[in-house]
This record gives sequence, C-alpha cells and structure tokens, in this order.
Amino acid sequence: MNMCALRASWRRWRRWLALLPAAASPLAAHGEVVVRPFGATSDGTPVQSFELRSAGGLTVRLSALGAALIGVDAPDRSGKVADVAFGFDDAAGYESDANQYFGVTTGRYANRIAGGRFVLDGETYQLALNNAPNHLHGGGPRALSKVTWQAKTFEKPQQRGVKFSYVSPDGEENYPGTLQIEVTYALNDANELRIDYAARTDRPTIVNLTNHAYFNLAGAGSPTINDHVLTLHADRYTPVDDTLIPTGELASVAGTPLDFRQPTRIGDRVDQLTATPAKGYDHNFVINRDAGAGVVRAAELYDPQSGRVLTVFTDQPGVQFYGGNFLNGQAGKNGKVYAYRSGCCLETQHYPDSPNKPDWPSVVLRPGQTYAHVCTYAFSVR
Ligand code: GLA
Repeated sequence: MNMCALRASWRRWRRWLALLPAAASPLAAHGEVVVRPFGATSDGTPVQSFELRSAGGLTVRLSALGAALIGVDAPDRSGKVADVAFGFDDAAGYESDANQYFGVTTGRYANRIAGGRFVLDGETYQLALNNAPNHLHGGGPRALSKVTWQAKTFEKPQQRGVKFSYVSPDGEENYPGTLQIEVTYALNDANELRIDYAARTDRPTIVNLTNHAYFNLAGAGSPTINDHVLTLHADRYTPVDDTLIPTGELASVAGTPLDFRQPTRIGDRVDQLTATPAKGYDHNFVINRDAGAGVVRAAELYDPQSGRVLTVFTDQPGVQFYGGNFLNGQAGKNGKVYAYRSGCCLETQHYPDSPNKPDWPSVVLRPGQTYAHVCTYAFSVR
C-alpha cells in the first residue's frame, strides 16, 4: 500500500472509530470532520452531528436536523475552552418545546410576516400564524428548522465544513415554488465560521434565511448577557408595532437604548425596553453599508471577563439582535439551564415583513435567480 492509500484507509478507520460513543475527541485531529449519531427524530429518521476543528483551537458542532449550529467550543484569553452556543444533547431536544430555535436555520422566511399574508404577482398567499397574529420563522412542522437535511462533508487546506441541502416542495408550509436550498458551514484555521446560504426556485417565491444561534461568551448556561459589550454598526433600526411587525419607518437609533454604535454593555439600558412589546432587545437593525459594499462588519459581541469576542460579518441588509427575553430556564445540553436573557442572537437577514414593504430590499426570488447570503461568525480574544 502506498502512503496515500494508507492515509485514506486510516482516515476511514478513524471515522468509524469516532462513531463509537467512547471514542470522542482524541481521534478528531483538526482538519477532519467527525461524524457521529445524534439520535433520531420522532418519525424515526436518524440524525447525524458533525464536528469541525480548527488549528486555531475552535471546535464547532452541527446537526442535520434543522441544518443547525449545536455547539461552539471557544478558548478564552487564557486558553480555557467553553461551549458558548446554546443547544441540546440530541435530536429529541431539538424537537421538544424547550427549543426556541436554538442554532437552527430558519425559513423559508425568517422573522415575522404580518398576518402571515403576502401578495406576489397578484396572487395572495396565506402562511401559518404560528406566532399569532403573525407568521414566524417559516411556520409549522415543515419549517426549515424542523426538517432533516442531507449533509456532505468537505475538507480543504486550512478549512473544513459541511454542506447541508434540502429541497422544499412547492406549497410546503404554503410557500410557492420548489425551493432547492444549500446551507454550507466552513470553519477555517483563523476561527472564522462562515455560513453560505444559496437557494433556487422553479416558481416566483419569497426567501429570507438566517441562523438563530444563541451565544453567551462566558459559556452557554451562564446566568446573564447583561455584562457583554455589544457594538452594532447600525445608525437605524426598524420600529415595530405591538405585534413586532415593522411600521415601515427606518428610524435613527440616536438617543434610544438601541444606540450601540459605540461599544455598550447590554445590561445598561435593557430595562428601559422591558415594558415595550419587544420585552427587551428584539429589534432589526439596518446595517450601515456604503453603496456597492458587499460583506461588511455588522456586529461585535465582547465578554470582558473571559476576553472572548464574536464578530459578525454579512452581506445582508439587516441584523436582528434578540436578547433572549423568552428564555425560561429550560434545560439544555450538558445539564445547563438557559435563564431569561442569558443568551443573545445576532441573526443576519432581510428586514422583517419585507414581503409587505415594497420600498424595502426585495425578498422575491424568481426562476433563474439565486438567493445568496453570507454570514461569518468570527471568534477571537482580547
Ligand atoms: C426571534 C424573534 C423573537 C422570538 C425568538 C424565538 O428572534 O424575533 O421575538 O420569537 O425568535 O423565541
């Protein structure tokens, strides 16, 4: 056997060994994607998880159920590792009521659509009102967060990842068009996790995908995000009505608790929003972008105690900053408990209810076009 064949056969063995419950991390050298069983859905579909490791010391875990980000082990400034992303131990956890979209891919339309209704080319479509009186995150049991995706791993120099794909049939969750979707996660050795979304349709439709990861940079399960310092590169946001549907205005953040243009502790002003319909931070921000600029820096989350930093880059027009106001102490993975406001999401996306806001960036996808979206979660310390 020559060296190449020997290496290939060792890799195959190593993958096999990694499926054994006892044989966890020591076998997973950085550079390789380790595949493990992750339980099964209630209809008996087996679900796999995938582990990616970077030479920079970051480990990312993904699941085929919901094409989800289920774990991020990140070193702090002294090298101590903690899992900073919310999630569950297995597929059953993700199917339970405790799951508030932890780390999943949401769509076909992430965020809210007023009354679940929109008109496209003169035809009216009615979607599920799963967040009455509105549609939220793609609707009911066949929302993208709830289906099991096909997965293909890849390994390249200094980068490794998983490409998840799913074909959503015409009419699924009442959305028009057969939608072919790919969500590709790639982790490089600089500890940057890049998520690329792509979708194509055979009939005009609407698309807005995002990832709904919750982070606490002190470690998921830590009691609060109040001490995290947030920067949002956004001069404006989209004010909402009592049901969290944008009024259509793009308002200045100046003089409001939504002004994060300078790094600001989340807890400093959150209570000014507790009595509002959002119940705290749950707002879409309009990302500052020069004309023609593609991927830009949208947000930075910093935990002064651990030194961990999460920087978010995207080519999308908006980012929803959600401060975990609906977390209710549910039990997550590794025996951790997720308390009220103990995690936050930075969801890159189009503005909520864009299908009903003709002046806003379009979310319409037509045959022959490709929906594309880049979001990078970059992890570092300082
Ligand atoms: C979003 C919404 C929130 C909430 C969470 C899930 O990000 O904006 O209002 O519904 O999802 O709990």
